[in-house]
Amino acid sequence: MAISITDPSFQQCIVPTCGATFSLGEALVACPRCGNLLDVAYQWDRLSVPGKLADFEAQWARRDDPHAASGVWRFHALLPFAPRDQCVTVGEGQTLLHASDGVGQYVGMKPGRLFLQYEGMNPSGSFKDNGMAAAFTHARVLGAKRAACASTGNTSASLALYCSVTRLLKAVIFVGSGKIAFGKLSQALDYGALTVQISGDFDDAMARVQEVSRDLGLYLVNSVNPFRLEGQKTIMFRVLEALRWEVPDWIVVPGGNLGNSSAFGKAFFELRELGLISRIPRLAVINATGARTLFDLHEEQGVRWNNGKPNLPAIDEYHAQMDAAGRRASTIASAIEINRPVNLLKCLRALEWTNGVVRHASDQDILDAKAQVGAGGMGCEPASAASVAGVKALVTEGVIQPDERVVCILTGHQLKDPKATVAYHSTDQDQFNEVLGSRGVRRAAFANRAVAVPNDRNEIIKAIRLYG
Ligand code: F0G
Repeated sequence: MAISITDPSFQQCIVPTCGATFSLGEALVACPRCGNLLDVAYQWDRLSVPGKLADFEAQWARRDDPHAASGVWRFHALLPFAPRDQCVTVGEGQTLLHASDGVGQYVGMKPGRLFLQYEGMNPSGSFKDNGMAAAFTHARVLGAKRAACASTGNTSASLALYCSVTRLLKAVIFVGSGKIAFGKLSQALDYGALTVQISGDFDDAMARVQEVSRDLGLYLVNSVNPFRLEGQKTIMFRVLEALRWEVPDWIVVPGGNLGNSSAFGKAFFELRELGLISRIPRLAVINATGARTLFDLHEEQGVRWNNGKPNLPAIDEYHAQMDAAGRRASTIASAIEINRPVNLLKCLRALEWTNGVVRHASDQDILDAKAQVGAGGMGCEPASAASVAGVKALVTEGVIQPDERVVCILTGHQLKDPKATVAYHSTDQDQFNEVLGSRGVRRAAFANRAVAVPNDRNEIIKAIRLYG
């Protein structure tokens, strides 16, 4: 499809002093002029946008139309970069905003104030499908044949699924060896993706996939791809929808490569520009303690987006010191075990737009929070629980008030990473130590231990009476 720069949608460098624009017809992951990240931008006055958010409810009655049924494309008017009938969907975005007083009590919130946005119901079991639907749509418009990503597991599972369901593209995925949870690896293999295991970690895989994609002309679907983030904006649209279009006080999200936090900031910024909301919620991004680049830069060093003029030398210096000291990210939350988040600048911008904060949570706190989420019946993988651990810390600090309305994003399904969960609940001390002890986890305060009984009817009945 030929697209010209006069189209109402285009790509634009995020740095205002550059601000270069490019047509949608180019597959870009950085500004060719200055090397910074790109946005998908719109001339809204040339597009037709509903007058109020509730107008989107008209889509609900049209379940037989896959684009109306998709939790991404029913908001097409807010990410209108491709004709609606060309947008790719595999049924993503059927998610649930779940009020959880149990988890709310654990984190110190008043009843009815804590909500969990459960993204595990997506076809590949994580929030990534929101963004993949959008990136795939762009790849389709461009006529790409092969798509690639580096991944801590969920992006690759999502890419592999979209490739195998739609047959539009072939998947090439790069993973760090031994760095990917088995549930996620099993998906990529099962869905038939070419899976390249790099001897290194996610950051190594990320650097390589960018080089190789350039060399081979592969369409890159990591979140440096600005179309990915357009799809991820819809997570926020669905949160508002579930709250009957009321804006919460806080959105709390785990931070890895910082695609989600960047997309959420853009979503709210645009909604306010369009006059569809009158206030923006505050964003809290939660790193794992063992992978806390954003926390260190934003909270410790005071690096800010600064209206498009961030302190880039400070960021370079931070990474140089990290490399010189041989410091590498390490956390049980393997999804967010990342040293150099590629969307750092966009996330700093989102934090500025949302008056946001950054915190980090230890593996111990993440696993305790995860057990609380699981006990509430809406289990998640370790990285997702960082959001809940983060709320607990922020309530304790007095940054979040117990009567504010808080939404935690549960980014991935419970079954993605069963190893940590089983070890946490295990009665086998060796298993606990092997998986968790080595990471400084000392206790499993909320363990639900299996009860060992002999293979004997009376003993079983006795045990059930005793514990049941
Ligand atoms: N939660 C889960 C379950 C994830 O898989 C990821 C990222 C994040 C949180 C962090 O989100 O990158 O937008 O800050 N996973 C990527 C992957 C890196 O390769 O699957 P982010």
